Amino acid sequence: MQIPLLQGPAVCSSLEALSKAAAECMRCPLGATRIRSVFSDGSPQAQIMLIGEGPGQQEDESGIPFVGRAGQLLTQMLASAGIDRQQDIYICNTVKCRPPQNRKPQASEMEACFPYLSGQIQNVQPKIIVLAGATAVQDILKTKQGITKIRGQWFEGPNGAKLMPIFHPSYLLRNPSQTEGSPKWLMWQDLQTVRKEAEAQGIQLHGTPSPFI
Ligand code: URA
Repeated sequence: MQIPLLQGPAVCSSLEALSKAAAECMRCPLGATRIRSVFSDGSPQAQIMLIGEGPGQQEDESGIPFVGRAGQLLTQMLASAGIDRQQDIYICNTVKCRPPQNRKPQASEMEACFPYLSGQIQNVQPKIIVLAGATAVQDILKTKQGITKIRGQWFEGPNGAKLMPIFHPSYLLRNPSQTEGSPKWLMWQDLQTVRKEAEAQGIQLHGTPSPFI
């Protein structure tokens, strides 16, 4: 499946310029209630990109994506798959500003923010894109198919990237079982599949895999 990337000035900008623009952005109402915009974490040189939903309270306060409880679990699971959060992956979200009360971003908000995400994809040019949760799947794949159905499958991403939906780490916090077939177990399989694909593509990762489950 090909992703329609927006054209326009924002898409041609550098990551630095996009990040600066996002910090002052008022393209949707989320701009009025944010403390900080939350642009990215990890490495712009990484060949793997992870796209989540949107900032929560801790992200809004720190300006860094995935630093709350869900983020800590994600970081831990990535590390156990041998994917180093700072060096091997570029992390961002569908929207750069926190939706009030941590509600899901609205379609209009994701649409307003899409040029930033599109610009991030065009600049980073990842070989592998991981979509964490249904909101990122809807934003990028434009499908309403359930995450449970499509997680762990490879899709065709932009610029020839391979793209995989995975569970959102918040879902795993609500489903802590690690037994075979549980969401956490499946996430662990999916991240290992991502690692193997990276290795197959000759992407050098800096982490050391260690058993999570
Ligand atoms: N933190 C983020 O940055 N994104 C999410 O989707 C969840 C928590």
